[in-house]
Amino acid sequence: MKTITALIACLLLINAAAAADVAAGGAKAKEICSACHGADGNSTDVNYPRLAGQHPDYLAKALRDYKSGDRNNAIMKGFAAGLSKADIENLSAYFSTQKSPLSAKY
Ligand code: HEC
Repeated sequence: MKTITALIACLLLINAAAAADVAAGGAKAKEICSACHGADGNSTDVNYPRLAGQHPDYLAKALRDYKSGDRNNAIMKGFAAGLSKADIENLSAYFSTQKSPLSAKY
């Protein structure tokens, strides 16, 4: 019985990890992030990093670090502060699935 409970718990965890909602991330990105990073994460201003095509774990870590202060940036701290765990996963999933014209070069 313990094994079955543990197995179900694992499946639920895996399911939660895979549940990032790309469409919700896209909607939020257009609402908040697009002014600086571009609607699809392809910023055209050198002051704002391109997010398109970046690894989702990298993006999520950056957002968590801005939120906690481990990565110190006054601008991004403000935007990350209001993001929930789900927002971070959804935004990271969205930007990672966007095409970057730079992807082909590397
Ligand atoms: C007012 C402009 C502005 C807005 C709006 C903004 N950002 Fe940023 N973002 C920046 C700047 C500037 C940096 C570079 C900060 C640094 O040097 O660490 C950055 C960096 C980042 C990084 C790190 C990129 C890397 O290559 O390490 C991520 C991820 C990110 N932003 C996500 C977002 C998300 C998601 C949103 C919307 C919720 C958002 N940003 C909204 C200006 C903005």
